[in-house]
Amino acid sequence: MLLLKVVTGIAAITFSGVFASVNDSQLPSQTVFVDPRSFAVMNPNADFRNDSFTMLFNPTSTTPPFFQVFDGRFLTILGDTPSFREIASNATFAFAHEAPIYNELTDEVFFSSNDGGPLGMSDLNENNVISKISMKEVEAALSVNATGPVNVPITQLNLSDTIQMTNGGTGPYNSSLLLVTSGRGSLPPSIVLVNPLPPYNATVLLDNYFGRQFVSLNDIKVHPTNGKLFFTDVDYGFLNLFRPAPLMPFQVYRFDPDTSAVRVVADGFNKPNGIAFTPDGSTVYVSDTGASGGFLGNNLTLPASIYVFDVDPVTHVFKNRRVLAYADAGVPDGIQLDSDGNIYSGCADGTQVWAPDGTLIGKFFLGMSTAEMIFAGDGRLVILAETKMYLAKIAAKSVPLGGPSGV
Ligand SMILES: *[C@@H]1O[C@H](CO)[C@@H](O)[C@H](O)[C@H]1NC(C)=O
Ligand SMILES: *[C@@H]1O[C@H](CO)[C@@H](O)[C@H](O)[C@H]1NC(C)=O
Ligand SMILES: *[C@@H]1O[C@H](CO)[C@@H](O)[C@H](O)[C@H]1NC(C)=O
Ligand SMILES: *[C@@H]1O[C@H](CO)[C@@H](O)[C@H](O)[C@H]1NC(C)=O
Ligand SMILES: *[C@@H]1O[C@H](CO)[C@@H](O)[C@H](O)[C@H]1NC(C)=O
Ligand SMILES: *[C@@H]1O[C@H](CO)[C@@H](O)[C@H](O)[C@H]1NC(C)=O
Ligand SMILES: *[C@@H]1O[C@H](CO)[C@@H](O)[C@H](O)[C@H]1NC(C)=O
Ligand SMILES: *[C@@H]1O[C@H](CO)[C@@H](O)[C@H](O)[C@H]1NC(C)=O
Repeated sequence: MLLLKVVTGIAAITFSGVFASVNDSQLPSQTVFVDPRSFAVMNPNADFRNDSFTMLFNPTSTTPPFFQVFDGRFLTILGDTPSFREIASNATFAFAHEAPIYNELTDEVFFSSNDGGPLGMSDLNENNVISKISMKEVEAALSVNATGPVNVPITQLNLSDTIQMTNGGTGPYNSSLLLVTSGRGSLPPSIVLVNPLPPYNATVLLDNYFGRQFVSLNDIKVHPTNGKLFFTDVDYGFLNLFRPAPLMPFQVYRFDPDTSAVRVVADGFNKPNGIAFTPDGSTVYVSDTGASGGFLGNNLTLPASIYVFDVDPVTHVFKNRRVLAYADAGVPDGIQLDSDGNIYSGCADGTQVWAPDGTLIGKFFLGMSTAEMIFAGDGRLVILAETKMYLAKIAAKSVPLGGPSGV
């Protein structure tokens, strides 16, 4: 076994195989090391968790936000001087749910409010909204207040009625926001491009499968080398009471923006949800949020898992399915990768991070549910936590999300 000792400015990390141990007298601020050896045996009368959504794993009872480290590899992601701050909040409105997109040209992050869920202020009769936050304003506010939460203004966009219940997004793609919508009532789910500049005009790319409506589109990514669009379809519109009962299985599809051809690439999920490709495009991750059932309630025996597939280089079908991870808290929702291929997903306690070998190496622990997050450039991870937004300043670098054209 290879033993390699790496000494950084903040912590001596010893690599033994893949696991990296931690010297916890040298941790950066806001960081707590929870050694897996410290809780492997809890003893018969311990307080075991019997609900993964409401009973979270915080054995040190640390006040969020903080970085919960299980493996020294997470310290490489955090770097020497990480910080983790609240940047916006609205206690009565889940304004920051999914579809985060960083537009570098304007230094803004776009995102959607919760569609149909708690505090989403949207339902069968009311559309959800897309808003943006200026990262320049965030940086300015954080520099004025060095410790406390800050609350930067949120700007709501005025969008075309063709955009109903946005639930996922990526890009910029072709200089536009690339969104998927769940549809609302009889209005169809769709893939839509939106201009990130006023007047925020939109172009619908797809709203049916050979004349049939999709169930309710959930998330989308552009393949980094072949440029095709891959999206998930699942019944959360129905489970949140704003879409009719599903008439198709819950699957992953490929849309070819050059020919408009659409085809299925993966099935067999309970509830396919988040999706992300490795930067070389050879591998794809898809989360299954089966344990989260909307009005049917949570069912802890159903998947709360991330699956890995190889992407067939010719047909683009997802093949050789295997499991990457099972989330200990709620369900893994949206997925993003950093430039080292680590996998970030929103769970019931914040954003969790797995190494490509499937080890849970750490968490951006918030003690509240996170559906999605996005790198706003290298070293800035913006986390959407429904009624709050957070910014973690770390060492990890972003990956391009616009496909081979790079925009
Ligand atoms: C951990 O760090 C402390 C403080 O720098 C140092 O004194 C100690 O020797 C280190 N322990 C190990 C096992 O490296
Ligand atoms: C979970 O544990 C709590 C006590 O900690 C108990 O009240 C509850 O009934 C348990 N629920 C299940 C499903 O076992
Ligand atoms: C929260 O959002 C709602 C809906 O946009 C708005 O009416 C309300 O003023 C906001 N509250 C705060 C404190 O910003
Ligand atoms: C920073 O924010 C905290 C919490 O909101 C507040 O108590 C403190 O007064 C603020 N400090 C400055 C310099 O604004
Ligand atoms: C949306 O429209 C309202 C009313 O016309 C306007 O006041 C607001 O500035 C617009 N928002 C944006 C982001 O353009
Ligand atoms: C918005 O309108 C401009 C000007 O007509 C056009 O060039 C652009 O392609 C449109 N963008 C979208 C996403 O529809
Ligand atoms: C991308 O933008 C170019 C130039 O505006 C346009 O010709 C092309 O159709 C766009 N592609 C898509 C998929 O919208
Ligand atoms: C939970 O899911 C399992 C597997 O599908 C099923 O057998 C069980 O009836 C479900 N439990 C509830 C309470 O719905």
